[in-house]
Amino acid sequence: MTQYWNPESYAEHARFVSDLGAPVADLLAPRPGERILDVGCGDGALTERFRNAGCLVVGVDSSPEQIWAALQRGLDARIIDARELPFEAEFDAVFSNAVLHWIPDPDAAIDGVWKALKPGGRFVAECGGAGCVASIRESFAEALRQRGVDSAAVDPWYFPTADQYRTRLERRGFRVDSVQLFPRPTPLPGDVVHWLEVFAQPFITAVPEPERAALLAEMRGRLAPRIQHPDGSWVVDYVRLRFAAARP
Ligand code: BEZ
Repeated sequence: MTQYWNPESYAEHARFVSDLGAPVADLLAPRPGERILDVGCGDGALTERFRNAGCLVVGVDSSPEQIWAALQRGLDARIIDARELPFEAEFDAVFSNAVLHWIPDPDAAIDGVWKALKPGGRFVAECGGAGCVASIRESFAEALRQRGVDSAAVDPWYFPTADQYRTRLERRGFRVDSVQLFPRPTPLPGDVVHWLEVFAQPFITAVPEPERAALLAEMRGRLAPRIQHPDGSWVVDYVRLRFAAARP
């Protein structure tokens, strides 16, 4: 999968991701002095909230560029893939926002979170859920099919139902206290093409470089009748999966 995170374009076009993650951070209800692991911390915008609440935080992310940005905030941030968490019963809580849907092996991440938590520790997270960005997925499927590319083969996202994720958590031994799937139509700060360039690189790079501008223009045309409002703004059909679980 080819997906590169550029902290500058993320800050310009995707700041809403951490802004809209605030309710998930509230659900975690961090207490001063707690040790918290933020899985997929990105540039550390939410990790910093936990530190400011008096917690001892570690942020991990597979993107060196995002970890560099998190380090600029003075955070303890480390380049670690969510499937390879190395921690052993060290954390009171594990938090994750807008990351778990990028992980091709969800059970590896769930297992690593389990091991990272102390007994009694909590796991609170939100990610994309079943039906998320269906307009974009379906449009890519059609646009790529016409170019001889099977979009399913390059699709980087795993958007589970509530039951599917609950089953994975319970199978590993978690007690699931809540799990909800809900639509969250998300207004973009700019044009949908910026969103595609930030979040949908595996689909775009599935075609040769000289064809990418035309693919993006076609995607914009396909998406306009579905997710562009009469005032010209774009509202993406996000669906969120939010849960709170605990290691008994
Ligand atoms: C997200 O960051 O939540 C997200 C990214 C890509 C597709 C859908 C959701």
